[in-house]
Amino acid sequence: MINDKKVLYSGMQATGNLTLGNYLGALKNWVTLNEEYECFWGVMDLHSLTVRQVPADFRKRARNLLVLYIAAGLNPEKNCIYFQSHVSAHAELSWLLSCYTYMGELNRMTQFKDKAAKHADNINAGLFTYPVLMAADILLYQADFVPVGKDQKQHLEITRDIAERFNSIYGEVFTVPEPYFGKTGANIMSLQDPTRKMSKSDENVNGSIFLMDDMDTIVRKCKRAVTDSGNEIRYGEDKPGISNLLEIYGVCTGKSIEEAEKEFSGVGYGDFKVAVAEAVISMLKPLQEEYARLLKEKDYIDGIIKANDEKAAYFANKTLRKVKKKLGLTEKPR
Ligand code: TYM
Repeated sequence: MINDKKVLYSGMQATGNLTLGNYLGALKNWVTLNEEYECFWGVMDLHSLTVRQVPADFRKRARNLLVLYIAAGLNPEKNCIYFQSHVSAHAELSWLLSCYTYMGELNRMTQFKDKAAKHADNINAGLFTYPVLMAADILLYQADFVPVGKDQKQHLEITRDIAERFNSIYGEVFTVPEPYFGKTGANIMSLQDPTRKMSKSDENVNGSIFLMDDMDTIVRKCKRAVTDSGNEIRYGEDKPGISNLLEIYGVCTGKSIEEAEKEFSGVGYGDFKVAVAEAVISMLKPLQEEYARLLKEKDYIDGIIKANDEKAAYFANKTLRKVKKKLGLTEKPR
């Protein structure tokens, strides 16, 4: 608890362009949690290094991600929006926790297996220990809840296992966090293959709507979305393409799936896809405009970065000191 509020922690990697999946599965939900909880939103730039980055682009992308958080409506005065790499406690705790994590556990991570298959030429140790750094992120802030999309479920489970293991040896050091999935939007699928998640790194750019796509591109991608046989607009396991579009439409408009099904009863796939595109555009347009405006506010953003880095470091170091003491690391003489 901080200021009598439960603590929430989440973040995104500063890798590639954010997709509609990132927005609907994470960022959009975060905004609704802003006031009720004490929130920490990290720009996970250390995690991005498991893949080679071009330094100048990377620096810009990480900063832009922080700006996007604010443009999406996260409140940087009430909550803490900061860079993971600016708080060295993340890397430190990650090392300490890696000594309490088993190779067997990490070997079971499906995201590691997927990424290792994708980057066969660069299966680095960081990719393998990625979940330990993620556990450190969350545990440093004693988070009660972690709002993420469904693809992060396994990483949350290992975080809980590490925390419980540590607590069982050293007493109640860490809060054991719960995952928090949005009721809808936690699993947005590719428009080109609705059995796979919409992903920043999809080679087929038509599978993903990017948050900064222009209006024509969004319409084109929606029109090209793979649909199912038949002509009924209905949610169901036998209709993964239409179900995904219904879900996107529902989250963008705030309507339930049932309402959306009713609205499109008797409508053809073509018109439905245009309606989905329009719903996405009405949601993304204000976001894009606010983002463009904030990008020009350099001093304002710098001020936020400074203040929030300090706030994050304060809470993170508090936990780190406790952990080091429990472990028996010698304290610095005062
Ligand atoms: P990342 O950067 O891959 O994704 C950021 C968030 O977007 C969600 N997401 C989706 N949700 C629904 N449908 C999709 N198609 C979709 N694609 C992505 C993800 O679930 C995530 O919530 N490991 C994390 C970053 C991280 C983190 C943390 C998160 C590092 N440390 C600590 C929480 C707490 C990641 O790679 O997210």
